[in-house]
Amino acid sequence: MTHLDTRVLRNAFGSFMTGVTVITTRDANDTPLGFTANSFSSVSLDPPLLLFCPGKFLSSYKAFATFEHFAVNVLAEGQEDVSNTFASYNGDRFARVPHQLDANAMPLIDGATAQFSCTTHDVLDAGDHCVLIGRVDTFQHQDKAGLGYAGGKYFSLGLERQVADTADKQAVCGALIEVDGKILLEQVSEGFQPPHIRTTGRSNLRKTLHQALDDKGISVSLGAAYSVFDDATTHYSYILATASKLPQDNPFFAVPAQELSTLTYTTQPIADMMQRYAVEAETRDFALYLGDDRQGETHALSERS
Ligand SMILES: Cc1cc2nc3c(=O)[nH]c(=O)nc-3n(C[C@H](O)[C@H](O)[C@H](O)COP(=O)(O)O)c2cc1C
Repeated sequence: MTHLDTRVLRNAFGSFMTGVTVITTRDANDTPLGFTANSFSSVSLDPPLLLFCPGKFLSSYKAFATFEHFAVNVLAEGQEDVSNTFASYNGDRFARVPHQLDANAMPLIDGATAQFSCTTHDVLDAGDHCVLIGRVDTFQHQDKAGLGYAGGKYFSLGLERQVADTADKQAVCGALIEVDGKILLEQVSEGFQPPHIRTTGRSNLRKTLHQALDDKGISVSLGAAYSVFDDATTHYSYILATASKLPQDNPFFAVPAQELSTLTYTTQPIADMMQRYAVEAETRDFALYLGDDRQGETHALSERS
């Protein structure tokens, strides 16, 4: 027994940014098994060793702790669904996810950025998990960005870099600031819009936005990017933000999320963004929009299940 609060400890461990893997093997009946793991680490180049830590709570724990072969699939950006399937789906996980078999018939997941076929090298008992060290027999690697995981959420480095990408356009950087379940908007003659800054350079956008809001007496905590798009002349980025309190004389309207879709906005892309925000605020499952002012894609940043 320990006096540490395990929930808090889990959150502290979770602040370490990792990639996401799916570890696969077969049980004694030759049924394929797999689970999502971010406890993966490389260990040694010579001999080639890696490790992961299966929990003793896993339905597949016995198979992993005793079997000779397994495979590690490092998931690529966009494979959140694969991760969620192998973390929580109770049916046939492999029926949902295209895969091939390696020389030992261990499942290799299509689209993974790296796949390691391994032989178990050592199993160390470690509290409620074990540390399983494998020797890499063969591996494949593709040059594409891996899926990231931190603080219980997925992130995509490629997308984040795209967000940070700068060119010579004008830049508008705004914030969807939530205070007590309401969103702060400013009203101009054309309609409502989120508070924003406009600059010619594109460096330090977040810092400049933060400072501009500070100057208005609003101390915000800026979070994930929510919408990033370009039109012919301007690069727009909107960031999720929270503020704990507002000065009495602040220039903004605090609008309840469910009323956002009833307002008139300054531009159609902002109207579309606020409409999407109103819907996503119900489940708090906010996605990132990347595109131009007419069309683009949303990328889920789902919570860990
Ligand atoms: C991103 C992520 C990382 C995870 N990492 C681990 C891990 O390293 N070790 C582990 O035992 N479980 C880990 N889990 C939880 C297991 O994936 C989950 O409990 C498991 O798939 C449940 O399988 P079961 O229903 O067959 O027991 C992780 C889950 C997620 C979403």
